Amino acid sequence: MLEQLKALAKEAGKIFLEAVSAEVTAKEGVGNFVTDYDIRVQELIYSRLKQIHPDAVLMGEEDEDHTADLSGDCFIVDPLDGTQNFINGYRHSAVSIGMTRAGEPVLGVVYNPYMDELFWAEKGKGAYCNGKPIHTSAAPLSESVLLFGCSSYNREQTELTFRLLRQLFDQALDLRSSGSAALDLCYVASGRVNLFFEYQLSPWDYCAGSLILTEAGGFASQWNGGKLDLEQGGSVLAAGPNAYAAALQTACAVLA
Ligand code: IPD
Ligand code: CA
Ligand code: CA
Repeated sequence: MLEQLKALAKEAGKIFLEAVSAEVTAKEGVGNFVTDYDIRVQELIYSRLKQIHPDAVLMGEEDEDHTADLSGDCFIVDPLDGTQNFINGYRHSAVSIGMTRAGEPVLGVVYNPYMDELFWAEKGKGAYCNGKPIHTSAAPLSESVLLFGCSSYNREQTELTFRLLRQLFDQALDLRSSGSAALDLCYVASGRVNLFFEYQLSPWDYCAGSLILTEAGGFASQWNGGKLDLEQGGSVLAAGPNAYAAALQTACAVLA
């Protein structure tokens, strides 16, 4: 099944490269858009997943109803993570397909067609990028570069996000913001940066990426240390093993 998911993520991602002019429609919130490509790519992924694993439940960003029964096997799909980048020609977006079994992520693939980089992980079998094993950095927070997302669609989160950003930045080396949470998690997994956080994300943003991260040796939780929520979504704090504890302590202090 993993091989089929890898081929599917690549096939779907290639559609981004062919995009000419996307039809953009506003969704709820500030700067939250969907394009005809998001919909087309999800339709392709769903039709293939129904053949690959007919008994699995599907949950995807472009569904009308986001409630899914996670008691069996469930695919959690973001057909195009990084829509704002895609619309602006920023060339940093990804296809993200995760599979949960009894509520736990067991397979994850994230494909960035612009770099032709395919990240994947299977529970208990490590994490890979284009066939090579990947590992998180061993750096402490004081030697880390940070990535963050600011949950821009929902501006009620802004204050907390920037408070945590300031506090972590003061303890770290530098920061970045990329516009694709799925790739952010893969970048922490591959040691390109050592910490990622965002206050409000959805299960399709992090289902696959969080497995890739933990299989690469990293840690991921909500800001309060709770388990990532694959039903409702929530906050994400992800880091390499020697930066995570200090980051979590800082996040808890910001929430208090
Ligand atoms: C978004 C991206 C972005 C993050 C947003 C997400 P979308 O997903 O992952 O990096 O900051 O919170 O919603 O809408 O491009 O699929
Ligand atoms: Ca997304
Ligand atoms: Ca999306």
